[in-house]
Amino acid sequence: MKAATSPVRRKSSSRAVVPAKHAAHPVVPLKERRLNFGNKWDFAPAPEDSKNYVIAPQHELFINGKFVAPTSGKYFESINPATEQTLTTIAAANADDVDSAVKAARKAYDKVWSKMPGRERGKYLYRIARIIQEKSRELAVLETMDGGKTIKESRDVDLPLVAAHFFYYAGWADKLKYAFPGKTPQPLGVAGQIIPWNFPLLMAAWKIAPALACGNTVVLKPAETTSLTAMRLAQIFQEAELPEGVVNIVTGAGETGAALVNHPDINKLAFTGSTEVGKRIAQAVAGTKKKLTLELGGKAANILFEDAPIDQAIEGVINGIYFNQGHVCCAGSRLFVQEGIYSKVIKKLRDRIQTLRVGNPLDKNTDIGAINSRPQLEKIRELVQSGVDEGAELTQTQCTLPAKGYWFAPSFLTGVTHAHRVASEEIFGPVLSVMTFRTPEEAFERANNIPYGLSAGVWTDKGSKIFKMVNKLRAGVVWANTYNKFDPTSPFGGYKESGFGREGGLQGLAAYCRLD
Ligand code: NAI
Ligand code: MG
Repeated sequence: MKAATSPVRRKSSSRAVVPAKHAAHPVVPLKERRLNFGNKWDFAPAPEDSKNYVIAPQHELFINGKFVAPTSGKYFESINPATEQTLTTIAAANADDVDSAVKAARKAYDKVWSKMPGRERGKYLYRIARIIQEKSRELAVLETMDGGKTIKESRDVDLPLVAAHFFYYAGWADKLKYAFPGKTPQPLGVAGQIIPWNFPLLMAAWKIAPALACGNTVVLKPAETTSLTAMRLAQIFQEAELPEGVVNIVTGAGETGAALVNHPDINKLAFTGSTEVGKRIAQAVAGTKKKLTLELGGKAANILFEDAPIDQAIEGVINGIYFNQGHVCCAGSRLFVQEGIYSKVIKKLRDRIQTLRVGNPLDKNTDIGAINSRPQLEKIRELVQSGVDEGAELTQTQCTLPAKGYWFAPSFLTGVTHAHRVASEEIFGPVLSVMTFRTPEEAFERANNIPYGLSAGVWTDKGSKIFKMVNKLRAGVVWANTYNKFDPTSPFGGYKESGFGREGGLQGLAAYCRLD
């Protein structure tokens, strides 16, 4: 391991090496970093206008079609992680509020939604999809301000997919019998849905659209750092005249989620988030009649063979891990490079990450936005430091990070071995762990040799190699010569500690139906 006195970049290379003896020091010397890619990659600022959109100073709970104050009278702040400014306050729901929401959902289920013909339910879903499209610019701006993701992503990836999910499941609402030939699909009842902060609106869409298409009603709990767009979605439900109680939204932190999990009148629970909380939910649900689907963490292997088109592969690798600040459960966070092309790939990777623009997420030129919260930033720093302490070498871009807000410069670790924490723990930040392999057998064995099994990527010129790898990789999704591509028609979900059940596609309907 090379020794260096400071992790700040020296002139001759873009590499920053943090020696193990500096373990107590922060990995990232934020203030010392300088912009070093000159004018070549510097564009004039092009921020999206956020002044047109008014954010109410206080947000209530959405229960039985109305916005109601929480019984506790308590509210918490939602901040913009790029500026640390408070955007609004959000109601904290307790067990009583969750109970009111479940009662409203039960009433709507019994009296209205489960009895409504599928074609009528479909009309509501189409209406919601169209309103989302109309308001997509506003929703994208709010998503970016509340969560820190780039406007490029919220506008071009999240919002089109959100609308597409409502459109897609609207289409299934009157065709459920065709989805399951020979069966009579029946709704399950009231669905409790708990979602994370990395794709706030998209996760809401993944969960709400199939549930409603099948005739269930919903109580949704958004993540505490990103509730703003869920509350905007509640207004869209009102605008679409969705019958009251069909979707209820209760905001709050883990206790609110736990109250929903433990409520006796829930028929189905769907959770996306950390493996730790997922396990706790599985324990709470064990022995009850509640149906459960879990979409948890991941540590995907992106496998790069010598015969791959390297420049395209590098773009795919970049897209797979730095996209959305690495806040992606299926992020390609482990890169396995075949030995013969290792030095070439590292050089290209180093040059390419240097060109990534980090900063104001509302700027259309920004590639990497803010880390969602301070605890998440601390977690990323701690894990990266553990990698360095255990002997890996850290390469980081030397861009200037804004003084306020939560930021982490795009990074990769080389010299990673299987025993290192960064080889198997989810970092959930813009950090890639790079390893090498010699044969396809070694690649899939090492790719599979971790507790997770959510996704993987294979880069090669040979179709036969793709099929061989796809058959051997224990991952719910395998992308070949591309990465992080989503479509509502395509199922998504994991193996092992990445959870069970599928979302998306007609498989996503099965999670919300009884098939007698
Ligand atoms: P988390 O699992 O605590 O939060 C996800 C959701 O679960 C939030 O809505 C939260 O309020 C809720 N929740 C928390 N405790 C709960 C409980 N006991 N019962 C019911 N609901 C509960 O995730 P967190 O703390 O935000 O992130 C920690 C790590 O989890 C991240 O660093 C990342 O590694 C991973 N993660 C994975 C995600 C994925 O998409 N698979 C999404 C978010 C985080
Ligand atoms: Mg926020």
